[in-house]
Amino acid sequence: MKVEKNQIDFENLPTHIAIIMDGNGRWAQKHNKTRTEGHEAGSKTLENLTKEMDTLGIQYVTVYAFSTENWKRPKAEVDFLMGLLRQYLKRHIRQAKRDNIKIRIIGDRSMLAKDIQKQITVLEEITENKTGLGLQIALNYGGRDEIIRSMQKIGKDLLHKKVMVEEINESLFEKYLDTTLIPDPDLLIRTSGEIRLSNFLLWQLAYTELYFCEKYWPDFSMNDLYQAIYHFQQRKRRFGAL
Ligand code: IPE
Ligand code: IPE
Ligand code: MG
Repeated sequence: MKVEKNQIDFENLPTHIAIIMDGNGRWAQKHNKTRTEGHEAGSKTLENLTKEMDTLGIQYVTVYAFSTENWKRPKAEVDFLMGLLRQYLKRHIRQAKRDNIKIRIIGDRSMLAKDIQKQITVLEEITENKTGLGLQIALNYGGRDEIIRSMQKIGKDLLHKKVMVEEINESLFEKYLDTTLIPDPDLLIRTSGEIRLSNFLLWQLAYTELYFCEKYWPDFSMNDLYQAIYHFQQRKRRFGAL
């Protein structure tokens, strides 16, 4: 069923959309291109969509760009992805003045190259007070890794008596996660037909509505996003209640 833009209830958009941008490699294969060309195309899709989601008035988007498991890929592919990331950061630092997007990186950045870490800090700082779309980019991110890092931080605070064991509950735990201060995703979209989470936002997705789309990420368009939002809006969220 094809969904038109006017079928969307713009008063009730999901507050936070999480996206597993998958299928760059298969998109490339289908078009007789190299995997790197697939990643390039995928990064253009991200640029276009974030711009449009900002215009639409979506408050938060979290995208999975590089997982803790993606280091297992051939070095040349990892290097290419890191190069794309450098370009992305540079471009957004340059155009930050005219953009209204607030960018934050989640994941363990200590494993990334020093120059990338520096660029990330700059970009986060210069977009900190932006009032448009809040874009979280997950880099060297794994849900389990995030939970373990949070546990380590809590452990340190216990040792330094900043926190008492009795105080540990869900809301305290969330303060230690990378996504602190951001509401859990309402809708998760995964492209490319794979039906799994691949270690994405394991804690935060507890009650998220899941939407799987057959298209490869470079082909994902604003219309596909409307389709996902439309299906989301037909669902009844219950959170365990009646
Ligand atoms: C997603 O596309 C991008 C990253 C994981 C970095 P893939 O590279 O996983 O593409 P497929 O799944 O092999 O088609
Ligand atoms: C998940 O995609 C990670 C990103 C989109 C960055 P993968 O392609 O790495 O996941 P698997 O290996 O198919 O589970
Ligand atoms: Mg994949």
